[in-house]
Amino acid sequence: MKLFLDTANLADIKKYAEWGLVDGVTTNPSLIAKEGVSFEKRIKEITKAVKGPVSAEVISTEWKDMVKEGQKYATWAKNIYVKCPMTPDGLIATQKLSKAGIRVNMTLVFSAAQALLAAKAGAAFVSPFIGRINDMGQDGMELIDEITTMYSHYNFKTEILVASVRSPRQVAEAAMLGADICTVPAAIYEKLVKHPLTDQGLSTFLADWKKAQN
Ligand code: E4P
Repeated sequence: MKLFLDTANLADIKKYAEWGLVDGVTTNPSLIAKEGVSFEKRIKEITKAVKGPVSAEVISTEWKDMVKEGQKYATWAKNIYVKCPMTPDGLIATQKLSKAGIRVNMTLVFSAAQALLAAKAGAAFVSPFIGRINDMGQDGMELIDEITTMYSHYNFKTEILVASVRSPRQVAEAAMLGADICTVPAAIYEKLVKHPLTDQGLSTFLADWKKAQN
């Protein structure tokens, strides 16, 4: 499973890219707004910081404008993926952009039926938001199970990108279900490597080693 960072913070992206395991980056308008920088400048910076896919979301709500925005973003870098929302206009824009060779990440997906439409529209990625489903008292991971099962019956090229992730455990569960990609905020990325027994074990090993040298 590929691991993406879900952030527009350049320092975090550079920090975790150094670990060598960041396969791409997802952004959204809220994440960009938090940074207080120009959208175009930041997206271009991110596309240089990582080799893999970088998602940049359209702001328009009508398909013709979404297509124009998507075409513009695609000129910024080779690794741009245009994020279109799961709306009727988003579905039209996804088809137009995909047919023109521009890769689309269909975002704000909350049901298996929506994921079916994204695949039929030719989206490169479909982004189910599991955390927001859990926030409503439902089981977001169940949706990932449904989509992986559904896609396994067909030859869809669309990759399942698990989004709105809130814990390291969800990353492992997404991988166990066979999701293609999981995008995680920097704070969760940091926690992926952490375990108290690892820290405890390491300090014991180092202390024992030091004692043996005296
Ligand atoms: C995905 O591409 C989105 O940016 C993201 O995962 C949204 O997550 P949130 O529900 O934590 O805002």
